[in-house]
Amino acid sequence: MSLQVSPLTPEFGARVTGVDIAVPLDFEVFREIRAAFDRYSVLIFPGQSLDDETQIAFSERFGPCEGTKTANPAAGTVFARQSNLDMKTGEVIPPDDRRMFYQKANYLWHSDSSFKVTVSLCSILSAREVPPEGGATEFASTRVAYDSLSDAEKAELDMLEVEHDFNHSRGLVGFKFTAEESAHFPPVRHKFVRTNAGNGRKSVLIGAHAKGIIGWPAEKGRALLDDLQERATQPEICLRHEWQTGDTIVWDNQAAVHRATAYDTNKHRRLMQRTTISSKGAWPEFAA
Ligand SMILES: [Fe+2]
Repeated sequence: MSLQVSPLTPEFGARVTGVDIAVPLDFEVFREIRAAFDRYSVLIFPGQSLDDETQIAFSERFGPCEGTKTANPAAGTVFARQSNLDMKTGEVIPPDDRRMFYQKANYLWHSDSSFKVTVSLCSILSAREVPPEGGATEFASTRVAYDSLSDAEKAELDMLEVEHDFNHSRGLVGFKFTAEESAHFPPVRHKFVRTNAGNGRKSVLIGAHAKGIIGWPAEKGRALLDDLQERATQPEICLRHEWQTGDTIVWDNQAAVHRATAYDTNKHRRLMQRTTISSKGAWPEFAA
C-alpha cells in the first residue's frame, strides 16, 4: 500500500488513501500525513476501522489529546461524543432533551476548542454509526479569508487579538449553561492571525466562539468577524462530506472552520467520536 493524497478543492481539503490508520504507522508515513495536513488543512481518510483505542493512538501521533470537560456526554474522557444515542442505554435521545439542544450549536461554523486557553491543533472525527441520509459535515478554509485581504488589512489584523467565549456561542442557539458549567469556560484571548510554522500560510481564528476583537467596539468587531466568515464560507469554495461508516477526518482548527448539518435525529442513529489535539506539545514542535 502506498499513501495517496488527492486534493478535493483548489484551495484545501484532500482525500487520503492507501493507509490503514488503525495500525501503528511508520515514521515516514506519518510524516507524509502531517505534511499533507499542513498543506490541505482537512484530510479525509475513507473507510477506516478505528475504535476508541486505535483512535487515541492515531491522535497521539499529532500530539496530546485534550480532555473533555463538563457539558459533553463524554466529559471526563478524551472524547467529545457527537451523537443522538444515550451513552448508557444506546437508545435514541428525544429531540427536546438538553443533550440534543446542546449539539444544535454545531450547526454554526466554528473552530473546535477555540474557547479554550490553549487553541487546538486539530480535531479527528471518526464515524462509527451514520444515518442513511443527512448529517454531512461542511468545511471552509480560513486561509482563503486572510488571503483575500489587502496588504494594509493583513498588517492591521496581524496585530489583533480576538476574544472567544463558549457561553457566547452556545447562547447563539439559545442554550444556557448552568452557573457551574459556565464557570468552566471563561472568555479567552487569542492571536487573531494564525501562522502555520511549517509553510508560513496565515489564517484567521473565526467561527461561532469568536465574540469580538479586543479593544474594538462590539459592533465594529462583529462586522469584521462576520465579513471574514462570509469570505471563507462562500458555498462554492466549501467542502462537504457525506459520511460513510468508518470515515475519519482530521482537520486543522486554526486554518479551517466546520459545521454539522441536520439529520432526522428521531428516526436515525448517529455516533461520531471526536478527539481534539492540543497545539501545546504537538508534533513536530514547530507546529505549536
Ligand atoms: Fe465541531
